[in-house]
Amino acid sequence: MKKNKISKDWLNKQRRDIYVRKSKLEGYRSRAVYKLKEIDKKFNIIKNGINIVDLGSAPGSWSQYLSEKSKNSKIMSIDLKEVDKIYNTNHLIGDFLDERSQTIIINFFKGKLDLVVSDMAVNTTGNKNLDAISTGELSISAMEFSIKTLKKNGCFVSKIFMGSTFNEIVQNGKKNFKEVKIFKPPSSRKDSKESFIICKNIR
Ligand SMILES: C[S@@+](CC[C@H](N)C(=O)[O-])C[C@H]1O[C@@H](n2cnc3c(N)ncnc32)[C@H](O)[C@@H]1O
Repeated sequence: MKKNKISKDWLNKQRRDIYVRKSKLEGYRSRAVYKLKEIDKKFNIIKNGINIVDLGSAPGSWSQYLSEKSKNSKIMSIDLKEVDKIYNTNHLIGDFLDERSQTIIINFFKGKLDLVVSDMAVNTTGNKNLDAISTGELSISAMEFSIKTLKKNGCFVSKIFMGSTFNEIVQNGKKNFKEVKIFKPPSSRKDSKESFIICKNIR
């Protein structure tokens, strides 16, 4: 499919989408916020006064919700892109795959983490299989980071795509966490290969 045809289809979808309209009304920067809200409602992942990392945070709707819901928490977000300031959230502009970024995050907390959420995704190329593989690699790295940095009763949530890396991520999750669930939030677009993995309690 041609690039301008893809962006026209995307714009039309955005205009029809109730979550896009709702996010504008409620002051969130992206419709993505409803996926995190739905995950939180079902799995009760966000508590007050905890250490939280938000991976792939731009434009910032997940961080907005984390900051709102978890007022006394210490929150750090990272993205390749800049993010406008969010209350109580420290944003790092950088590549999460770069070890130096991970060291900055670890040093910032001076202790272990309670919650790592990742909505990281590569820029879509139009080739859904290729996009799924690249985003899967981000999810694998986010899980490896979480296993090293989470407290025993910590929680890891990540976007994953149906595709060749799906089984590897789920298997790795089951090997390293006591509870592993896969969930497609109602606000996740039906035609997207996206789902989320929720892992709790390190083995
Ligand atoms: C779907 S968006 C995240 C939306 C965000 N959760 C929100 O609620 O506003 C995916 C983000 O992942 C980021 N990303 C992709 N690869 C990354 C990497 N290697 N390091 C950091 N961020 C990355 C992209 O820049 C993009 O902003």
